[in-house]
Amino acid sequence: MNWKIPLFDIDMSEAEISAVTDVLKSGWLTLGEVTKKFETEFAQMVNCKHAFCVNNGTAALHLALVAAGIGPEDEVIVPSMTFVATTNSILYTGATPVWADVIGYDDFNISPDRIREKITPKTKGILVVHYAGFPCRMREIGEIAKEFNLQVFEDAAHAPGAQIAGQYCGTFGAAGCFSFFSNKNMTMGEGGLITTNDDQLAENLRVMRSHGMTSLTLDRFKGHNYSYDVVALGYNYRPTELQSAIGRVQLKKLPEYNARRTELTKYYHKKLAAVPGLSVPFQNHPGTPSFHVMPILLAKGVDRLAFMGYLKNAGIQTSIHYPPTHLFTYHRNLHDSLREDLPLTTDIAQREVTLPLYPKMTYSDIDFVVQEILQFMKENFKR
Ligand SMILES: Cc1ncc(COP(=O)(O)O)c(C=O)c1O
Repeated sequence: MNWKIPLFDIDMSEAEISAVTDVLKSGWLTLGEVTKKFETEFAQMVNCKHAFCVNNGTAALHLALVAAGIGPEDEVIVPSMTFVATTNSILYTGATPVWADVIGYDDFNISPDRIREKITPKTKGILVVHYAGFPCRMREIGEIAKEFNLQVFEDAAHAPGAQIAGQYCGTFGAAGCFSFFSNKNMTMGEGGLITTNDDQLAENLRVMRSHGMTSLTLDRFKGHNYSYDVVALGYNYRPTELQSAIGRVQLKKLPEYNARRTELTKYYHKKLAAVPGLSVPFQNHPGTPSFHVMPILLAKGVDRLAFMGYLKNAGIQTSIHYPPTHLFTYHRNLHDSLREDLPLTTDIAQREVTLPLYPKMTYSDIDFVVQEILQFMKENFKR
């Protein structure tokens, strides 16, 4: 498809190309000094003690949970209104994901009240998702976690650089997990990262990211060790230096990207205020979001497929965030008793549409998107 306005677009410049070229010429391609620099810079950005880069965001989630001791017999509370990897990371550990509903039509994040209702003696953790880069209600969630002695994990795939109450997403709980997939606010093609302030968890992450080994190939190359022991069931979730090199450049650009996303989203909000047949969530969010995607909610009765088809014919790509996890065939079969009490998630997931948003977008691109939406509503929406 040759879209006039794609859903997202990446920004790769000479800086990324030369950073990758430098790595290729250096002779060291896997987890090394470039990755360590990237981790230090990311930790500084979010103001936390430790950061571990991994090969993708799903690996970050799995590793964070398993290194924090989540396993069979445990339950972890999680939203269904997210990418499937969030729930799957819990399943990989052998634990049971327990879905909790969202706050409402204006805020698609997990609801602290619904979290409370899902707590049982088996609950060990809460895995929140900062949907579209809008930070969750971390103060309330932190209070619940304290009251019931639960670990908090953040799926911050959408939220690099986002803050609430002056604190960065990814630093509120035991661990924060980021994704640097192509469509994210900053990208390495594939990539992920875990942040933590917990020294013991950091040690577990360090060891388990690379097969549970006590020393890395890099350490042996540097002459620090001849051999290694294996002290835990680890994984190969190592990133390449090529990924980290791109990540370092993208991290420098992140503040500028997020600022541009903020301006564009505000402009969308202003323009969409006059459009019938839809509402726009998160308009009065108290935090500093990273505006990863631009969700809207169609009014009841608007045919979503027709809406998306109309925009497609105009050359505008749209998407859905998300087909909810609890309704996938695989996940439905796992959790018969748990799937029916997510009325808001189920309703929102049928009516949500995501509009294009990326830093290189222009105001006139947005004017065009909104004009096409207006035309669709004129022809199709009866109050
Ligand atoms: C909310 C959320 N969680 C987890 C992931 C998984 O990240 P990755 O694709 O890097 O494995 C993604 C995106 O892809 C995501 O959007």
